[in-house]
Amino acid sequence: MPENDLSIEEIENLSYYDFMGYLGVPFYQIGGLTSTERLGELCQIDEDKKVLVVGCGTGFNACYIVRKFGCRLVGIDIAEEAIKKAKERVEREKLHDRVEFRVGDAYALPFEAGTFDAVITQFVSQFLDMEKALKEFARVLKTGGCIGINEIFKDGEMPPKVAEKILEAEQILGDITQLPFTIHTSEEWKERLEKAGLKGVEIHENREPVSLKESPQLIKEIGGFGKFFKLMVRMMKYTLLSRVIRSRFKKLDRAKRVLVGYPMIKSATSRHVGYILGVGNKNENEG
Ligand SMILES: C[S@@+](CC[C@H](N)C(=O)[O-])C[C@H]1O[C@@H](n2cnc3c(N)ncnc32)[C@H](O)[C@@H]1O
Repeated sequence: MPENDLSIEEIENLSYYDFMGYLGVPFYQIGGLTSTERLGELCQIDEDKKVLVVGCGTGFNACYIVRKFGCRLVGIDIAEEAIKKAKERVEREKLHDRVEFRVGDAYALPFEAGTFDAVITQFVSQFLDMEKALKEFARVLKTGGCIGINEIFKDGEMPPKVAEKILEAEQILGDITQLPFTIHTSEEWKERLEKAGLKGVEIHENREPVSLKESPQLIKEIGGFGKFFKLMVRMMKYTLLSRVIRSRFKKLDRAKRVLVGYPMIKSATSRHVGYILGVGNKNENEG
């Protein structure tokens, strides 16, 4: 879609993720593509597997998974603008024989029971009521299939000042996305997967946010330096033109600084935050 299709007012009224989708922001999760690849390995994805990515955004990570593991994949997201960009990506990357993107809700997946070998979320489950969502993920999973999550965690214990800042970041992200946003501890993530009846649950903690070494790959995945530059210019343009958008970016920046710190400089708060890769398999008696 040409970027000037919507007026500034219409853009301001888009939901946060529709807005990010409209801009074409790739939604890089804090563990970067390294974490995506590791999650794919933990879920034992290969060319014989059919994978569902819930909350696929603009399809950046989903297409990476397909190219890396050769699987078939369906990506769903509630944000229509993000799905439009994801469909453009499929065409651009000539992946239409293996990938399909469509609008859909994590709580009411438009698929029959037992359709997928793996269901994955990356920086999505922390926005969801996990009890409700995991039931739905397990329903569309084949017996023995894998649920894999790549989400933020926080330490169970930390100085009160740090806990206050993390709470502030949670509130900011909840506020700008208008979604309930909660950062769980590793134990809480484990508990949620186990409560859903999954077997062999494993939680892998990682405290290293995305490495700067991934920057060239990120730019390549965005579509090259030209596209990256255009994205930056577009973001700057809307920041200058709209107070509402300016405020969104300012809040996002604040939350990011609290949770991930600066490249190579960990803040006091970011030392107590990282990402978990969590996996578990569907039992015979489940779903
Ligand atoms: C931070 S983005 C993650 C993007 C994506 N994982 C990626 O790899 O690029 C969170 C995404 O979750 C989506 N989302 C939030 N709630 C959802 C729901 N109930 N059903 C489907 N998608 C949802 C948002 O629209 C957004 O695109």
